Amino acid sequence: MDYTNLVLPKHLGIIMDGNGRWATEKQLTRSQGHKAGAKNLKRLLTYIYDKKIPCVSIYAFSTENFKRDKKEVDYLMKLFITIFQKEFLSLKEKGVKVVFSGRKENIPKDVLNAMEKLEQETKDNKQGILNICLNYGGQYEIVDMTQKIVEQILEGKITKEEITKEWIEKNLYQQLPPLDFVIHTSGELRTSNFMIYQSAYAEYYFPKTYFPDFNEEQLDIAILEYNKRKRRFGGN
Ligand code: FPP
Repeated sequence: MDYTNLVLPKHLGIIMDGNGRWATEKQLTRSQGHKAGAKNLKRLLTYIYDKKIPCVSIYAFSTENFKRDKKEVDYLMKLFITIFQKEFLSLKEKGVKVVFSGRKENIPKDVLNAMEKLEQETKDNKQGILNICLNYGGQYEIVDMTQKIVEQILEGKITKEEITKEWIEKNLYQQLPPLDFVIHTSGELRTSNFMIYQSAYAEYYFPKTYFPDFNEEQLDIAILEYNKRKRRFGGN
């Protein structure tokens, strides 16, 4: 689809949900569902940056996802390494800068190494930003930011009056524009603790499609829907 005359989100969020159900319906394993999701993600991101959407945040793994079966968690961790090392080479070449949001604790060392390498190798890229939320929870992000405030106050580095909206935004995991549009696939009607501060005025879209099937055509439909929304940001 031609995007030339459309309003594009400056920051798009994707909650990649439904890999498990996609697999179960096809009598495949949950791991096969995640593999299909990863394959779709690579194609979708290429399309998104080709269409000049400049910043994308994706929910790869929530802090709560560690409660899943060890086998599934182990599979996902291995999948992340493969994707970061091999499949995202094309993003690197496209000039996309990759950053991560979330807590480092509990992430296996080899996954952390692959994350650090990807961040390091893409740090000077300017053609787009990919923020990968991994071991991420929106409430924990606010807890971590609050701890920074207390620390800095106790160290005498800032005063209560200096804590403004701008200060808070500079002390979240990443400094990105606010989310304009959040797509949560699979028909679930919730925000799922995804970037809750950054999505204060985001438009939400809840397609029924499971993530492995949320392809370029589905994104076109989502972007057309975004263009129908009247954004008022609390005004009239
Ligand atoms: C939610 O589906 C999906 C996840 C917990 C993992 C998302 C991961 C990928 C798409 C793989 C590739 C990602 C990166 C960043 C390399 P679900 O398992 O909760 O599905 P269900 O609700 O149907 O069970």
